[in-house]
Amino acid sequence: MVTKAPGPEAAERAGRAPELHFRGRTDMPEDVNLLDPDLFPRGSGPPREVFNAWREDDPLHWNPPNPDYPPPGVAVPTRGFYVLTRYKDVADVSRNQRVFSSHPGGPIIWDWEGEPLRRQQAGLMGMPIEQHRAARRLVVPPFTRSELMAFQPEIDAVAREIVDEVAGLGECEFVFDVASKLPVYTFCRLTGVPAEERDTVARLGNLNADVESWGGPEEGSLTAELFRIAGEIAAEKRRRPDKSLMSRLANSEADGDRLDPMALNMFFVTMSIAGHETTRSTAAHFVRLMNEHPDQYDLVRSDPDRRLPNAIEEVLRYAPPVVNFRRTVTEKVELHGTTLDVGDKIYLSYPAANRDPEMFPDPDRFDVTRENAARHLAFGIGPHSCIGARLARMQLFSLLREMIARMPDIRHGEIERMRSIWFDSVIRMPVTFTPEK
Ligand code: HEM
Repeated sequence: MVTKAPGPEAAERAGRAPELHFRGRTDMPEDVNLLDPDLFPRGSGPPREVFNAWREDDPLHWNPPNPDYPPPGVAVPTRGFYVLTRYKDVADVSRNQRVFSSHPGGPIIWDWEGEPLRRQQAGLMGMPIEQHRAARRLVVPPFTRSELMAFQPEIDAVAREIVDEVAGLGECEFVFDVASKLPVYTFCRLTGVPAEERDTVARLGNLNADVESWGGPEEGSLTAELFRIAGEIAAEKRRRPDKSLMSRLANSEADGDRLDPMALNMFFVTMSIAGHETTRSTAAHFVRLMNEHPDQYDLVRSDPDRRLPNAIEEVLRYAPPVVNFRRTVTEKVELHGTTLDVGDKIYLSYPAANRDPEMFPDPDRFDVTRENAARHLAFGIGPHSCIGARLARMQLFSLLREMIARMPDIRHGEIERMRSIWFDSVIRMPVTFTPEK
């Protein structure tokens, strides 16, 4: 039985954070359609109470298509799908690529066809199993611990420069003046984007992350521009190989494995969104959650070197920036008493899994000392889990440690969230703080 979501007052009485409320909405959980880009910005984050009700009573929830979404000419229509909200289900399905594949329909919930689908399938996230295994062997080495450790001093230096630019001002717009700069720099550095193209890549990455306009007139040219930059870098790296990621990928034939040009281009496009949008939003969610939970911020500030790593994990658990990925069923399979057919779509809900009480006791409590916070699924799990997770953690640690040291009383003003069914992303966050002398 699905019960009506409790109102904000009930949660308030229980002493929980305002973010938990499905604010001002009276929908019954069965009326909520996840194909509504206004669903998240209208409240403040994913519809927690709805996910809670589904997790409890309807663990394989059927989400029908929404006749009003997407509007004609923009983004791609989508059939209905099954929503998984339990931690174990999201983890089990993510691990089982053979039956729940990222390939036939791509990893994204929209139903692409023709060339756009082919592009999704050519990228790391949408490749067939065997090809994916070989491609991971190629792309993972630069993201291993030892390689990234060598990169750490540079990341620290850039984090310092970013904070240098704003610390004396007393106010700034946090998302673009601070949070997005480090991932853009890191991405460009890793892939060998020349300094004069950095702003273009940042702009294209931002535009590309605005997924509600995909399929619109701009999308083809955006992707084409990123492909052009990727192609130029790859050609240069073939002429003059070095140790950068793109050089390794472009010259990989020597290893026997090979990324074809489309796969290489798509890898570049994926990284320009995946590595940027997500990391910057996590930094913004960190500031937001520390403002909402001053006692937790005091704890972090009292010993950042010790407390910050786990605080970052708790932010990722509590407010994962990626809201869902998709899988497509490849053979008849039974799940929660329902037989799924070949071609059925699965929506993996990371925010719901991350609040599953079976895994995280008292899941709505934001607790930077939570022992198993790092078991969140914000980075996915299984064969397609995030290759940039370690890098993202390093960047967030460097940037936030610098921020805490030099802008300790940072406070945010009115937040604007991205209008999206895919990302829980902050796109504007004015902040104030005592200017550094
Ligand atoms: C807080 C930051 C980040 C979050 C929350 C995040 C989230 C995710 C998630 C949920 C997946 C799983 C996709 C699936 O299972 O279908 C993923 C995969 C991926 N991420 Fe990240 N990501 C972050 C940062 C990064 C960074 C910094 C990079 C690279 C510079 C990156 C590159 C990728 C790539 C290439 C994949 C595809 C892996 C594959 O399919 O084998 N991500 N990410």
